[in-house]
Amino acid sequence: MTPTMPPFPAARLRRLRATPALRTLVRETTLSPADFIWPVFVMEGRDREEPVPSMPGVFRRTVDRVALAAKEAEALGIPAICIFPYTALADRTEDCAVAWSPDNIANQAIRAIKDAAPGIAVMTDIALDPYNINGQDGYVQGGDVVNDETVEALVKMALAQAEAGADILGPSDMMDGRIGAIRTALEAEGHRNVTILSYTAKYASAFYGPFRDAVGASGALKGDKKTYQMDPANSDEALRLVSRDLSEGADLVMVKPGMPYLDICRRVKDRFGVPTFAYQVSGEYAMLQAADQNGWLDGETTMLESLTCFKRAGCDGILTYFAPEAARVLGG
Ligand code: PBG
Repeated sequence: MTPTMPPFPAARLRRLRATPALRTLVRETTLSPADFIWPVFVMEGRDREEPVPSMPGVFRRTVDRVALAAKEAEALGIPAICIFPYTALADRTEDCAVAWSPDNIANQAIRAIKDAAPGIAVMTDIALDPYNINGQDGYVQGGDVVNDETVEALVKMALAQAEAGADILGPSDMMDGRIGAIRTALEAEGHRNVTILSYTAKYASAFYGPFRDAVGASGALKGDKKTYQMDPANSDEALRLVSRDLSEGADLVMVKPGMPYLDICRRVKDRFGVPTFAYQVSGEYAMLQAADQNGWLDGETTMLESLTCFKRAGCDGILTYFAPEAARVLGG
């Protein structure tokens, strides 16, 4: 692989770093707005947005404002937007029935984006946590998050999102068997081109803290998610999950969180060669923003560096809250 290296001074590796032009010429990885999926938070109401305190620069938006954000994304060259609902308290119940209501705010947002910016791909989140009284991604019975009953609910949720016009479904729940069940149901209902981006290697991470603030789940969550999300100490298990999800009908796979898990991204890409995404999660975003606000790091440079490193690690794209800001910088 490595060609013979002549001795110094025949080899001066600094030659190729000497000018911006030469560095550009030999750069192995590039970053562009086309690499981003932008996660946005949707809330009830009209013509309003409110800041998420633990995520500076991130807002919850009403459906009409989400549609405007989608137009902005389209203008910036961002190909996809991902919707997360901030659910009203009354919509969090034991049976989680609002999750598959055609008129919940997530499904309203899908339709509004499709109207406003038809060129944008709309991605969803499939998990019960925004609609669950206890903040877990699945039904809780006898102190346990039950798998198969949850999968039945997730299938209903997936079909409602597909009916609303979603292009990419994002099961983020980590139940076993959900990809196969969702794929079978989509085929049966004629949704042949609806794509599944599986949250395949999703770890039980403390880096999700600010997100749970953003969707109002922090107070609701009882216990942790360790019986279904992965142990951060594991790597081989991620490969088994990718193999399983692909065999069940996932089109795209994801590693989450991002920056502390780039070794997993690289292993997945090398082993399977499938479209591989990473989620630069809320805690990663919050850390960079906090350091920037304190003057401890340069925000713009660290933002671009962090995103470039996902590409270098083998990712085809990144879910990132930086999407519009990074796209603006990259677009000049
Ligand atoms: C919920 C979900 C979570 C995130 C995406 N979907 C949180 C969790 O699993 O508790 C995290 C995203 C982020 O931290 O930015 N199923």
